[in-house]
Amino acid sequence: MEGFQPFIFAFPSVLSLILLLVHAQDQSGFISIDCGLPADSTYKEPTTSLDYISDANFIDTGISRSVVSELKATIPQPLWNVRSFPQGVRNCYTIKITRGTIYLIRGTFLYGNYDGEGNLPEFDLYLGTNMWDTVKVENASDSIIKELIHVPSRNYIHICLVNRTGRGTPFISAIEFRPLNNGSYETKYGSLALFLRADTGSTGNQSYRYPDDARDRIWTPYNRNEWKYLSTDQHINRISQADYQPASVVMSTAATPINESAPMELYWQADNPNTKFFFKMHFTEVVKLEPNQSRSFTTLLNGEYWDGPYVPGYLSIRTVYSDPLPPVGSTYNISMFKEENSTLPPILNAFEIYFVKDFLQPETERADVDAIRKIKSTYGIKRNWQGDPCAPKKYLWEGLDCSYDADNAPRITSLNLSSSGLTGEISADTSNLLMLQSLDLSNNSLTGSVPNFLSKLTNLTVLNLKRNEFTGSIPRELIARSDNGLLLLSVGENPDLCGSRSCKKKKNNIVIPIASVGGGLLVFAFTVVAIFWGIRMRTKRDAESNKQNVTLESLQRQFTYSEILRITNNFERILGKGGFGTVYYGYIDDTQVAVKMLSHSSVQGYQQFQSEVRLLMRVHHRNLTTLVGYCYEGTNMGLVYEYMAKGDLEAHLSDGNAKTLTWEDRLRIATNAAQGLEYLHCGCKPPIVHRDVKTTNILLNENLQAKLADFGLSKIFPSDGDTHVSTVVAGTPGYLDPEYYITNWLTEKSDVYSFGVVLLKIITGRPAIERSEARTHGDIKNIVDPRLHGNFNSNSVWRAVEIAMGCVSPTAAKRPTMSEVVADLKECMATELALANEGDSNKSMEMVNLDLTTELNPLAR
Ligand SMILES: *[C@@H]1O[C@H](CO)[C@@H](O)[C@H](O)[C@H]1NC(C)=O
Ligand SMILES: *[C@@H]1O[C@H](CO)[C@@H](O)[C@H](O)[C@H]1NC(C)=O
Ligand SMILES: *[C@@H]1O[C@H](CO)[C@@H](O)[C@H](O)[C@H]1NC(C)=O
Ligand SMILES: *[C@@H]1O[C@H](CO)[C@@H](O)[C@H](O)[C@H]1NC(C)=O
Ligand SMILES: *[C@@H]1O[C@H](CO)[C@@H](O)[C@H](O)[C@H]1NC(C)=O
Ligand SMILES: *[C@@H]1O[C@H](CO)[C@@H](O)[C@H](O)[C@H]1NC(C)=O
Ligand SMILES: *[C@@H]1O[C@H](CO)[C@@H](O)[C@H](O)[C@H]1NC(C)=O
Ligand SMILES: *[C@@H]1O[C@H](CO)[C@@H](O)[C@H](O)[C@H]1NC(C)=O
Ligand SMILES: *[C@@H]1O[C@H](CO)[C@@H](O)[C@H](O)[C@H]1NC(C)=O
Ligand SMILES: *[C@@H]1O[C@H](CO)[C@@H](O)[C@H](O)[C@H]1NC(C)=O
Ligand SMILES: *[C@@H]1O[C@H](CO)[C@@H](O)[C@H](O)[C@H]1NC(C)=O
Repeated sequence: MEGFQPFIFAFPSVLSLILLLVHAQDQSGFISIDCGLPADSTYKEPTTSLDYISDANFIDTGISRSVVSELKATIPQPLWNVRSFPQGVRNCYTIKITRGTIYLIRGTFLYGNYDGEGNLPEFDLYLGTNMWDTVKVENASDSIIKELIHVPSRNYIHICLVNRTGRGTPFISAIEFRPLNNGSYETKYGSLALFLRADTGSTGNQSYRYPDDARDRIWTPYNRNEWKYLSTDQHINRISQADYQPASVVMSTAATPINESAPMELYWQADNPNTKFFFKMHFTEVVKLEPNQSRSFTTLLNGEYWDGPYVPGYLSIRTVYSDPLPPVGSTYNISMFKEENSTLPPILNAFEIYFVKDFLQPETERADVDAIRKIKSTYGIKRNWQGDPCAPKKYLWEGLDCSYDADNAPRITSLNLSSSGLTGEISADTSNLLMLQSLDLSNNSLTGSVPNFLSKLTNLTVLNLKRNEFTGSIPRELIARSDNGLLLLSVGENPDLCGSRSCKKKKNNIVIPIASVGGGLLVFAFTVVAIFWGIRMRTKRDAESNKQNVTLESLQRQFTYSEILRITNNFERILGKGGFGTVYYGYIDDTQVAVKMLSHSSVQGYQQFQSEVRLLMRVHHRNLTTLVGYCYEGTNMGLVYEYMAKGDLEAHLSDGNAKTLTWEDRLRIATNAAQGLEYLHCGCKPPIVHRDVKTTNILLNENLQAKLADFGLSKIFPSDGDTHVSTVVAGTPGYLDPEYYITNWLTEKSDVYSFGVVLLKIITGRPAIERSEARTHGDIKNIVDPRLHGNFNSNSVWRAVEIAMGCVSPTAAKRPTMSEVVADLKECMATELALANEGDSNKSMEMVNLDLTTELNPLAR
């Protein structure tokens, strides 16, 4: 209110009188903050005995500075330091208070040339979302005081300093909160900004505050040339009067007109005729009147009778007020006239003028503020996240958007924390931002699962979780909303997250530990887990494939047991039985799946089960069967796999199989399987050792494309029980690395060995163990599966035999790597195709010398 120029006259008007109790003389409820004081420092200011604390705990920003030292001797300690804000447009303190309390809130500003620049700054002061006042420094060594009487509706208050571009750096010296007596200052019209609080008749030039004033109001001496002073040595009997309770020392002096027949006058200008003024006068008779003396007077407002007459009581306080004053335009003129039969002129001991601040800008909905503040503290977000998140709109927190409905509190509708270096999990407080429509957490290092509580945000239409480190699967509800086009869901580039295409992208992040087989107790008995699988993506879905989450991976998740029942139609059709359970045929939507239900005793605890399964769910390769999901509910545990229509390789190689695989088919299958294995060894970090490569674990789809199955499962079936313990500690007889018996350790080279056995089986069509007896010297025709009827190129067969023999070398070091095997097989395949294309019918038979007894008899003990 720069337009106000207070002048003083004298004369009170009585509209009401209130008597109340005396307030205890203590600092309870006071908050005294010395801005710029070093963190955690406190002191007792000697003249007031007020206890000051540092402001460091109330604000994140700003820097601590000190006024020039020569000034310090002349000013109280709370003004020695300032906090200044060279950065940011708006900087806010957040101060916890008791809501519903009537507070006197005071900000003090003393520039003191703390920055040595001598430029007097000008800036704005906000209480929360509302402009409180402008601080304009006009004298470097004078303090500016801004006071407000305010009843907070929340249990915190923001005090903000706002840069006025080009007007210098905001700063603040002290912030004080003083609870006022209940019922003393009415605020039903709004908060009250102090215009003037005057101690009239004061003989010195000293202001009074705590402890003289129990509520620490500051009473400033105010006198006029037309006035003279009256005073008493007596203590003013405060008990007799009002909860306004002005300081005794203030009430013990009074002003009275020098010309005893003249009125006392007070007048001031309002810059806005609509401003509502609150006006209070405090009277105490300080003169012991003689019997023939009397003092009574009446008040006029702008010449009209307003109130009175009053007869002040000796040494007792009477407060007269009008809250608010009737509107009389922009000039207020209060004059106190002596009554006709009064022998003495009017007196005035003290008065206060406030004006009503209409704080119209509502604060953001409390629940939203609580949530976003917790999010801020969870992630340690700095930015410009101070004060109210949404209001005023021009100081909206960076990364937020809000709705501003005139009748309601602003609500947070968008939160963008992309590229903010966030770590940890998604804060649960996010789910309390109920009006959120857009949430962008992309490009951070967030971990943990994508929480289900995000589905609580029913207004959410954009959810971007890209480029993080989320694990697990995406809540079904979110996927469903994404599928329905209600939610734009982005989850890519989360290497460990399933339910998104991101699962298969990053090869480098796979961390399946190599299971220790140190105890020698790893169980292996998946001998006949015949799982047939195949993918038949419905064409409609294919058409939608540019939409998210319609691929098989989008199905990846945890299933409930009742879902498993539905998927398998109550376990209607058995695909096969294995050592660890039965495999059933099923459907998810239009996609065929194979569901392997695990026998209870074989599985470890939920946590480890889940973590292993989740690891496996993110291994993706065209020659590896896809694990779609899992179920773990009580004793019901299952794994849901891609369905492979043509069953396992074993069945195709077995004697009874009518339609024999051609040599070219066999080579392609071998190459596929080798590529799947190579991916486990080289595409995953750390490498995954399959541990059970065999023909029953190589599955074929309807195009005879081969995929390796059951990799990584040895981790899920522990060796702790006696259920499946056998002397065969890992792998399958006939396929097991002979070095394992020495080292008790399975490595990639063990898989290479097993693959060699598979390759030999593919070539010979004979069972692995049987082969231990196959001691053969002679024609390659004696080795190759007779069902091929010689329809093969002997060069490529010979090459394949060479590869297989290399793989089954008893010494691990001599075996090739899977990468080498893949390269060799491809070469072999090329030879076969080239020759087949030439129409060359390969009739050059060669003699082959194989001593399979030594090479293929690992179990002969
Ligand atoms: C500033 O105020 C001090 C007293 O507080 C006074 O002595 C000084 O003259 C003032 N300076 C100006 C430039 O008004
Ligand atoms: C604040 O005011 C200073 C001084 O005029 C100016 O240099 C600075 O750029 C302003 N800061 C902002 C954020 O406007
Ligand atoms: C203050 O008065 C209000 C009613 O005006 C009452 O609700 C509240 O409890 C009182 N507070 C105290 C501390 O007495
Ligand atoms: C304040 O009063 C003292 C004596 O009471 C006087 O010396 C001093 O000059 C006065 N200061 C002002 C600024 O009026
Ligand atoms: C005193 O006040 C009265 C009433 O306003 C006025 O008539 C009179 O002239 C004043 N006396 C002096 C000496 O100013
Ligand atoms: C009041 O009484 C005193 C004596 O007690 C006397 O001196 C004075 O003149 C009287 N004043 C008036 C106005 O009657
Ligand atoms: C204030 O009101 C009184 C009484 O109506 C009048 O005598 C006086 O001139 C007024 N003063 C101003 C400054 O308007
Ligand atoms: C002055 O006169 C009024 C009536 O006009 C009366 O009520 C009041 O008591 C008188 N005051 C004194 C001090 O005589
Ligand atoms: C979030 O902010 C980044 C840059 O700050 C921007 O690229 C991205 O589009 C924003 N996200 C949303 C949902 O607006
Ligand atoms: C991701 O965030 C980092 C900083 O955390 C930033 O350097 C990089 O440019 C951001 N990338 C994208 C694509 O926004
Ligand atoms: C947002 O959600 C609330 C309740 O959660 C609902 O009343 C409101 O209609 C929703 N708004 C939109 C735009 O969906």
